[in-house]
Amino acid sequence: MRTNSLIEDFDLYDHKIDSDPFPWYQILRDEHPCYWCESGNIWILSRYDDVAAAAQDWRTFSSLKGNLVDEIPGRSGGTLGTTDPPRHDRLRALAQAAFLKKNLDHVVEPTLQLADKAIDNIKAKGSFDFVADFSSEITVGIIFQLLGLPPRNSAEMRNKVVLSISTDKKARGRNAELDAAFANLSQMISDEVAVRRQTPRDDLITKLAEAEIDGDRLTEREVVLTTSMFVVAGVESLSSFMSILALNLHDFTEARQSLQIDPARMMPAIDESLRYNTSAQRFKRVLTRDLDLHGKTMREGDGVVLAYGAANRDERKFENPDVYDIARNPQGHLGFGMGKHFCIGNHFSRLVTEAAMNRFLERIPSFGMQTREFDWVSSSNFRSPMTLPFKIN
Ligand code: HEM
Repeated sequence: MRTNSLIEDFDLYDHKIDSDPFPWYQILRDEHPCYWCESGNIWILSRYDDVAAAAQDWRTFSSLKGNLVDEIPGRSGGTLGTTDPPRHDRLRALAQAAFLKKNLDHVVEPTLQLADKAIDNIKAKGSFDFVADFSSEITVGIIFQLLGLPPRNSAEMRNKVVLSISTDKKARGRNAELDAAFANLSQMISDEVAVRRQTPRDDLITKLAEAEIDGDRLTEREVVLTTSMFVVAGVESLSSFMSILALNLHDFTEARQSLQIDPARMMPAIDESLRYNTSAQRFKRVLTRDLDLHGKTMREGDGVVLAYGAANRDERKFENPDVYDIARNPQGHLGFGMGKHFCIGNHFSRLVTEAAMNRFLERIPSFGMQTREFDWVSSSNFRSPMTLPFKIN
């Protein structure tokens, strides 16, 4: 039975949930832990134990048909996030080396250089958009360096990436413009892969194209899609996360001041922001068998949303979950997911965010908002500010 006593007008395509899904999550967790969402034609799991268990049970909760609620055409089965083992394990092993902690120390210095350049520009302006002028500058800059892609206009690039992962709320899904943005991005990457086939370089794309395990190599499509996902996941998730962290540090003055006294607290603050109100809110799986949960029967082939953002606010797991507390040590949070699909970019994101945000706070110790009225990316998965209008105080 799919029917439930519906939460009045809960709607995955309501713009309200782009910015603030948390009041809805509370109702879902307490009253409808296994919720059939009519608007998305999909189940939603929101309690910590259920979401964590589902994330680790890839045999029942498959990613093969995509992990975005409104999947981008042509992506399923070709990327890390849209494959199951054993294919997933093979792709992951080939991509993993570049993201190992010991191979990432080299990202700190270039991140600081990018941060200093962005801050010089911000200081000259006084009023600034944190997303365009800071977080996009850092993330596009550093991810393009990592991949070995030529530098691009960061704000423009971030906008392309945002379009690639957006949802058309009216159409309740994707539309031709959004699909074209992703196709455009993939074409750009495909051209770059072709160049490296001719002339290998010391960069991640070349490593992916040449990586070999037991004589097995990635296909052309896998190299292009995997690289595209590094650009999309990297630029969108990381720039949005950094922006949300900045918003938290604006809103919670004590936390900001304590970081200014002791920058070593930035890592715990990053974890608390990943728990409290991260960018990567919801991912999809498809059931490979019927499953009973909380009195509901979900059927094989049904889509299921793992609401990581809701699970991270579950008081059954975290004490006072609606309090932002950088001293909390929120072990087990799902900001980077869990299980086989745990974010491959997690160390990289932590290092880049720590370096960039500490430099930001050091050089711009006091900042305010020009206005609280700003847009959020239209998405059934992500929670990302389009802009963040700040000013130096
Ligand atoms: C703070 C920033 C980031 C956040 C919050 C984030 C969050 C996540 C989450 C929640 C997942 C799990 C998805 C699922 O369960 O289906 C994931 C997977 C993934 N992320 Fe990230 N991510 C971030 C940064 C990055 C970066 C910088 C990259 C690459 C450069 C990246 C690449 C990926 C990839 C490829 C996967 C799929 C991994 C797999 O399926 O094995 N992410 N990310």
